[in-house]
Amino acid sequence: MIDREIYKLWRSKTSDLRYFRPKRWDELKKVIVEQDVKSVLEFGSGVSTFLFDNINLKVVSFETDPKYMEFVKSLCSPKVTFKLWDNKSATINDFYDLALVDGILPRTHQLEIALKHAKFIAIDDFKDSLLRKLTNYERIDSQSTILAVFVRLNTKLKLNLNKHQISGTDWRARIAQAQVNR
Ligand SMILES: C[S@@+](CC[C@H](N)C(=O)[O-])C[C@H]1O[C@@H](n2cnc3c(N)ncnc32)[C@H](O)[C@@H]1O
Repeated sequence: MIDREIYKLWRSKTSDLRYFRPKRWDELKKVIVEQDVKSVLEFGSGVSTFLFDNINLKVVSFETDPKYMEFVKSLCSPKVTFKLWDNKSATINDFYDLALVDGILPRTHQLEIALKHAKFIAIDDFKDSLLRKLTNYERIDSQSTILAVFVRLNTKLKLNLNKHQISGTDWRARIAQAQVNR
């Protein structure tokens, strides 16, 4: 399914507005694709779970509301693992490429667990006051939405052609300029 179809289906099933918005998904998907993310630890199930599943990521989704969890489960493939929890403590043994912190408030424990179990951390409704918990991290999204994506500082990022590589035209312009300056 394409993302637009997923959103259409989601909106046809629930009128609740607490869902992960398309612009934020576009931001997150860019990181997922560029950094070759394969596994996700998610706090707060929803359309995000459906979207992760749709691009074949390994997903473990922690949710606090059992009825709602069953609803999201009914839309996802059986490959997704759902875990009911109390928004406080979770037993997690694995390490994931990405964690999405987007469950019910407060998100303190979600973030603390995410920091221990994933390389990339995506936080929805991000506030600067959280930066003190992220001293070892660098923000890598375009900062155009309220979703913030961070990476651990010692992580080698996959080369992002758009952001880090100078295009052929730029090189030609630079060489021409250097010749003029000589
Ligand atoms: C910000 S929402 C989670 C968003 C989720 N990551 C998504 O992509 O839709 C936080 C919590 O609100 C509750 N929630 C969101 N949508 C709901 C719905 N349609 N019905 C009941 N609870 C909902 C769930 O407990 C969910 O974990």
